[in-house]
Amino acid sequence: MSRATSIQPRKPRFDFSAVPRDWLGGSRVATQVANAVNLLFPAGERFFVRSVKRYLDAAVAADPALAPLAKGFFGQEGRHAATHDAFNARLRAQGLRVDGFLSFYERLCYGFLERVCSHELALATTAAMEHYTAIMAENALRNGLLAPAHPTMRAFLHWHAAEEIEHRAVAFDVLAATDDRYALRAAGMAMATALLGLLWAVGAATLIAQDLPPARELPRELRRAAAVLGERRSIVRRVFLRGLREYLRPGFHPDEKPLDDLAAAALAELGLATAEEAAA
Ligand SMILES: [Fe+2]
Ligand SMILES: [Fe+2]
Repeated sequence: MSRATSIQPRKPRFDFSAVPRDWLGGSRVATQVANAVNLLFPAGERFFVRSVKRYLDAAVAADPALAPLAKGFFGQEGRHAATHDAFNARLRAQGLRVDGFLSFYERLCYGFLERVCSHELALATTAAMEHYTAIMAENALRNGLLAPAHPTMRAFLHWHAAEEIEHRAVAFDVLAATDDRYALRAAGMAMATALLGLLWAVGAATLIAQDLPPARELPRELRRAAAVLGERRSIVRRVFLRGLREYLRPGFHPDEKPLDDLAAAALAELGLATAEEAAA
């Protein structure tokens, strides 16, 4: 298990104006399942940054090596959030009504839950959410889930996935340095699992309902969606059950799985490796 000494935020630019409405393998349903999780990112990543910042001084006092890592984490998440905002604007331009769902999500999570829950639970939820983003990132990069995506979306999401892998341990280490109770980590995972599951399902249903093809084309569309998304229960099994199993094991640490080469290869393919990384 090795730990990076710094994290590099990159600033690629993406022009979403040519991204079609069915950008994932030509499947409306598969595209909307992917759009639903993407909708959660801008506000979610800003919440992650807020949650970590509150504990940064205490964490750095206990573990000074966290300072440059947290700085890189803030830079990466800020850039991700801004780019997902730009992509959400593209969804509106495509005629999708996303703002009702976004308003429900933001009022529930940041207008209500963040106000009534403790800061330590917010940090624990962030650490657990980062485990889910790392799992989704690994699935995307290792299994070629985005091979059928429009090239702009593939590059955008591969960049995001690679950086999620790079900073996957930061929130976890800030939590561990400031409050290492297992019960708190598990409570954060329970919160993260319930919210991600609920919001992804509601978001996907909201978007799919707006984008269903005529009834006679439905069987073909569902076959196409199944081919793009994989087997029916794969998201439950490959994301949620795997996340719970790994994260709830006492002694778990996000760096225990060697994923850095996977992230580095994706960044090199995108031409986003730093000169230092390219020379390594
Ligand atoms: Fe991110
Ligand atoms: Fe992240």
